Parts: sequence; structure tokens; C-alpha cells
Amino acid sequence: MNALLTWQFIHLLKPFAKKIDARVKLGHDAANITSFHLIMLANDSFHIAVLPGDGIGPEVMAPALAVLDKVAASTPGLKFRFTEAPAGAGHYRDTGKSMPASTIKLCEQADAILLGACGLPHIRYPDNTEIMPQVELRFIFDLYAGVRPCRLIPNVPSPIVGAAERGIDLVVIRESTEGLFASMGKGVVTDTEARETLVITRKTSQRLFDFSFRLARRRKARGRRGLLTCVDKANAFKAYAFFRAMFDECAARYPDVDTDRLYVDACSAMLVRRPWDFDVMVMENMFGDIISDLTAGLIGGMGMAPSADIGDAHAVFQPCHGTAPDIMGKGLANPTAMILSAALMLDWLADRHGHAGAAQAARAIEHAVDRAFAAGLAPCEFGGRDGTAAIAGAVLRALDASMRA
Ligand SMILES: NC(=O)c1ccc[n+]([C@@H]2O[C@H](COP(=O)([O-])OP(=O)(O)OC[C@H]3O[C@@H](n4cnc5c(N)ncnc54)[C@H](O)[C@@H]3O)[C@@H](O)[C@H]2O)c1
Repeated sequence: MNALLTWQFIHLLKPFAKKIDARVKLGHDAANITSFHLIMLANDSFHIAVLPGDGIGPEVMAPALAVLDKVAASTPGLKFRFTEAPAGAGHYRDTGKSMPASTIKLCEQADAILLGACGLPHIRYPDNTEIMPQVELRFIFDLYAGVRPCRLIPNVPSPIVGAAERGIDLVVIRESTEGLFASMGKGVVTDTEARETLVITRKTSQRLFDFSFRLARRRKARGRRGLLTCVDKANAFKAYAFFRAMFDECAARYPDVDTDRLYVDACSAMLVRRPWDFDVMVMENMFGDIISDLTAGLIGGMGMAPSADIGDAHAVFQPCHGTAPDIMGKGLANPTAMILSAALMLDWLADRHGHAGAAQAARAIEHAVDRAFAAGLAPCEFGGRDGTAAIAGAVLRALDASMRA
């Protein structure tokens, strides 16, 4: 389907290649890519940490693993070793911890991390906040670039008038380690007031902007507009004016990429009126949290929106949605976002390890999803008849058909 979704992540991360500590941990010269590949090939498989989580997390994870098994079976040299580990509200209820140390260790050692969704509204810390290991992982592994693609798959209904004709294909880059979320667990609440502190640093902003400019440049090379929009609230807060000033400094180094600057409130209105005018957007953590749910709504719903949280050495792949307690256990969850997140993982592994088969497998998954929707798949999520099993079955059959072709 969409070649524009194919990011060659290694190119985006190239300036940070020397920091890739996995190679160091394995006792190899960080510059010796060939020997690193041999390590991976010696194991003969990608080791994937699987954190199904809570609610519909395990329900959408199972189809994603089935899809990965199927592409591995038909792609020479592509194998997976899945290791499942606990994390989430259920684990907290049972043990008092959001996740055990063994889960963090597994994530550190694995080639990539797949996560379902975590948290249940009725299970909370004593301070009344929720259990969110998915956010903790971003801090632990410095996953600063939250990549939230938003592409309207043909034949999926969008609430936006004109979307079927004009198409929607944009990417939200959400800074994921600071912003207002830097205050998580540190806010001060008394009987009379509450304070949370937003943090924006030069170090993180610069690498976030570099990542975003390189993505816009690569999308331009593949026929998109090559436009990067900085979304902030620089009219009201010094911190966002600082954010925008650093964006402007960075823009000078990418003269081939068009830029725009929008206040988040105006941007929200424009997104629901003319989403096709956007290409890549970059923003602070809390704004990205909200805007990426809005963009998911543009393309059919939360069950259609994949995501990747990328750092210099690790990455977590998960759907944008949460645990959907209102539909858990009913077989209604749409697994498309989780399946497309697995395809994003394959792209990232392909680029990181120079594994062409993994990139082909990613394309095969995306094509299968497109074909399944073109053939009339209608998820319950947007009023159709198809639940989790029907959607998974349709994608698996489309994969089978393409393998036979
Ligand atoms: N990354 C994560 O792990 C993550 C993200 C968001 C929310 N959460 C947690 O999930 C819980 C529920 O949060 P929420 O209700 O705000 O958001 P949610 O994304 O779980 O659900 C919002 C709405 O979208 C629907 N929905 C979501 N995913 C769907 C899918 N795959 N198929 C069909 N319908 C789907 C739900 O039924 C619900 O009506 C909370 O405990 C929250 O903290 C976790």
C-alpha cells in the first residue's frame, strides 16, 4: 500500500548511530555493523518482548502475533522468538507493581517491544492516577519520538467530508519523554491547589526536530509534500516560545523541507476541516497525546491507528488506543492498529539490521490490511458487523492470497 509509511528508520537515526548501546552490550565494536548482524543471524531470529497488558490488549495482540508468524513462514530468513511478560493494571492489582524488573530486563535485551495496551480506570495508585507502564517504558528507554501515522485506508469511512476523495496521510510526532508528562508522579496537590510542571529541554527538542525533519524529507522523496508543522502554544507560554525558537534554528539546517508553525488550538480546528493539508507535525508530549487521538478519529477510530515510540537504541510498538474496558471480553476489538504497529516494528527492524525480508514482510502486512478493507471489511468499531476474529481472519486470508500470487 503506502510506500510513504515505509520509514527507513536507520536513516532517521543515523546521526545517533554511535550511541546504539545494544552493540556495546553485546561486546562488539559499535561501528562494526557486520559483526552485529552476525550476532543477530547467529540467533537466527528476532527476539520480541510481548507485553499484552490489560483489557483488549491481549485480544488484539493475538492476531498481531498470528500475522507475524504467517509472514515469517513465507519470508526466507525471517524468524521470531516471542517472549511474553506481564505489565499493567492487572499486574499492579496482584503484586503492587506496574511491571516486574524481569519485564524491564526482557525489554532491554529484546530486539523490539510489542505492547497491547495497559491500564484500567478502576485500578489506581493511592494518589488516584492510573497504572501506566507504557509511559514508564518511554522514560526508562528514552523513547523520545512518538510516531503516530494517520492514513485513511481506502474504503474505511472517515467523519470528514471530502476525505474519501482527498485522502488523509499525515504523521504526528509526539515528544514522549518530557513536556507535561515529565511531571508524572511529581505533581504537588494540597487541599487548596495543584501544581504540575512542564519541562522542555534543548537536548531532547533538538533530536526530536532532527528526527521530524528527516522524516519529512524522506516522505518528500516519496512524493509527499515535505512539510513539517511545529504545533505549540507559543503565544501564551515561554516554554512553547522556547520550543518554537529551537524549531526555527533546526529548520535553517533543512532548507529543502517546508515548514509551518501553528498554535495547537487553531491546528485542532484545521485538522478536522482540511486534514489533507498536513504532512508531518511535531509537538510537545501532552499536545501529541490529545492530537494523536483526534487524528485517529479522522481515519475511522482508535482501532485503526498504529504507533511507534522510538529511541536511539530501543523501540516500543503499540496501537494508539487504550484497553477499551467498555468492549473488553466481547470479541469486538478492532486489531488493525495492533497489526499495523507490528508492520511498523518490521520496518524498524529491517532498517536497524539491514534485513530486506523484514521490510518486505511489513509491506505484505500493509497490503493485506488494505485488501481486506477493499473487500468490504466493516469493523464493529465504526458500526459494521466484523469483530476481532473476523478482522484477523480477513487479514490472514489476504496474506495467504498474496503469498500464493
Ligand atoms: N497506550 C496505552 O496503553 C493506553 C492508551 C490510552 C489509554 N489507556 C488506558 O486505557 C483505559 C481506557 O481508556 P480510554 O477509554 O480513555 O481510551 P480507549 O482507547 O481504551 O477507548 C476509547 C474508545 O475507543 C474504543 N476503542 C479503543 N480501541 C478500540 C479498538 N481496538 N477497537 C474498537 N474500539 C476501540 C473504546 O471502546 C472506547 O469507546 C484507561 O485505563 C487508560 O488509562 C492506555
